[in-house]
Amino acid sequence: MCGIIGVVGTPDAPDALDTLLEGLARLEYRGYDSAGVALVRPGETWRARTASGTESVRALVEVCAQAPPGFASGIGHTRWATHGAPEAENAHPHLDCTGRIAIIHNGIIENHAELRAGLVERGHTLSSRTDSEVLAHLIEEARRAGADLVEAMRQSLGRVRGAFAVAVVDATEPDVIVAARRVSPLIVGTAPGRTYLASDVPAILDRASAFYAVDDDQVVRLGPAGFSAVDLEGAPVRLRQLAITWDLETAEKGGFEDFMTKEIEEQPAALANTLLDRRRGDGTITFDELRVADDELLEVRRVVIVATGTSHHAALVAKYALERWARLTTEVDIASEYRYRDPVVEVGTLVIGVSQSGETIDTIQAVREARRRGARVVAVTNVVDSSLAREADAVLYTRAGLEVSVASTKSFVAQVAALEMLALRLAQLRGTLLAVDVEAHVRGLGAVGTLVAAALTRRDVVTDVAKQLVGARDFFYLGRHVGLPTAMEGALKLKELTYLHAEGYPGGELKHGPLALIEPGVVVVAVATDPVMYDKMLSNLAEVKARGATLVVVATDDDEAIDAVADYVLRVPATEPLFSPMVDVVPLQLFAYAMARGLGRNVDRPRNLAKTVTVE
Ligand code: AGP
Repeated sequence: MCGIIGVVGTPDAPDALDTLLEGLARLEYRGYDSAGVALVRPGETWRARTASGTESVRALVEVCAQAPPGFASGIGHTRWATHGAPEAENAHPHLDCTGRIAIIHNGIIENHAELRAGLVERGHTLSSRTDSEVLAHLIEEARRAGADLVEAMRQSLGRVRGAFAVAVVDATEPDVIVAARRVSPLIVGTAPGRTYLASDVPAILDRASAFYAVDDDQVVRLGPAGFSAVDLEGAPVRLRQLAITWDLETAEKGGFEDFMTKEIEEQPAALANTLLDRRRGDGTITFDELRVADDELLEVRRVVIVATGTSHHAALVAKYALERWARLTTEVDIASEYRYRDPVVEVGTLVIGVSQSGETIDTIQAVREARRRGARVVAVTNVVDSSLAREADAVLYTRAGLEVSVASTKSFVAQVAALEMLALRLAQLRGTLLAVDVEAHVRGLGAVGTLVAAALTRRDVVTDVAKQLVGARDFFYLGRHVGLPTAMEGALKLKELTYLHAEGYPGGELKHGPLALIEPGVVVVAVATDPVMYDKMLSNLAEVKARGATLVVVATDDDEAIDAVADYVLRVPATEPLFSPMVDVVPLQLFAYAMARGLGRNVDRPRNLAKTVTVE
């Protein structure tokens, strides 16, 4: 998830650079590992880029102090790297071979490798390792063939598979910006004598007076006096006007009250982006950045996953997938325990470190210990070039986008999806699943985002249940099989957001002791969506019900029996058990959120916690 911004003004008001830098500062929360601007005026394109981690935009401001004055138009970008390390050479804007055309891009070009190969074959020189740069050279080719900037954009996007919010400037038409959108957000803003574009409202909130949404496969042409729009076939279209009444702080949260709500709502997009360019047309699975050869993956005999917190729960789900699909013995270890247990690492042991931030020292130390003992290490992380990514032999990136709220939400579903794709890749290589079954699972995984979106529509029901239970003080979360890590994740969300005690527990284990704790007033939240485990779970629910517990059950839409058992039912669409944690976790996230709001907690910054724990 990156931030893009652009402005077209008139030569008598050459303030484009101020607009871009101020807007980029407002878009930093969308990603910050590098930043850049490109300014245009007749015959001249001036570009500056920086890659200084969280200081990238501030470093860019310093560099731009040397910019020549007098530019009325330009584009800017702040990056959340997906392809290519967060170094200056990979920072946007990217130029074509002439240095006259500059583009910025938010999204993923799935077929960038084949497009790049064709461009190089036709004599182009590409200077970055990003997918986005190919767009600058495709537009260059169309322009050289006589297309105007809109036509050049349309022709180029016609060759692209993937997601984009892209904008282009050309020094031969400095009072025009052309932009287009598919999946990644893009808005247009207007004011007297200026027209703006941005990833979302905050970047231009106090400069534009009217706002419009660009929908999928629409191409807009911005000039100082306004804009026009066409679809990818060139037919005129009208943009939807947006009624924006937000203040800036609300705008940075996408109009939501807090980052946690924004990030919960972003889960379908996080899943789509994580899976986007990993499913080839022929059904095979590919991870560009994994950098582990197939024959090395075939040598894997045992998997150990090390992680903490929510990432540990995603790892627990992955265990079921790796053992079920790839028939690989899989252990999951709390990272802070792993290195002190004198772990056994034999030839063929693959250790996977899972960490959203890629900076959790417990996980980094565990991975270091595993490497010291001779294991091959793969990192699964959401931050390109993070410490964990650099420690590992290979990396598999989730693409959930920046996660600001301390409570992990979208990164959990993205981690489960990435790990399950890895399990399917191993099954494909090891032949433990038929090709037709791999394809079926990959298709099913691709549909989970829609189920998550459906679960999100039930927020009000969940909130009503939370309102009725806000006085409760003691919670058990029960699950069986993959429902257990889901239950554990739900309990963790409640603990860290409400400061109430909650425990995730195996449904079948309660009777071996903790059942003594069940009495009226205790709330038991159960995940009962797996048809295989359903009858056993019902027995567990009868045990706690008989002892006075209040029962909240996550159940599928088609479950008609549960109403007779549960005090409250949180409905979710049914799905394949191994996919269910990504769907069933949604009502548990919403429940914890609603309970925390009912208790007046700060949901984005709970007490005692930090987003990344860099101390042991
Ligand atoms: C989860 O909501 C918590 N914020 C915490 O448990 C977190 O998952 C844990 O600290 C691991 O963080 P990481 O994924 O960045 O390594």
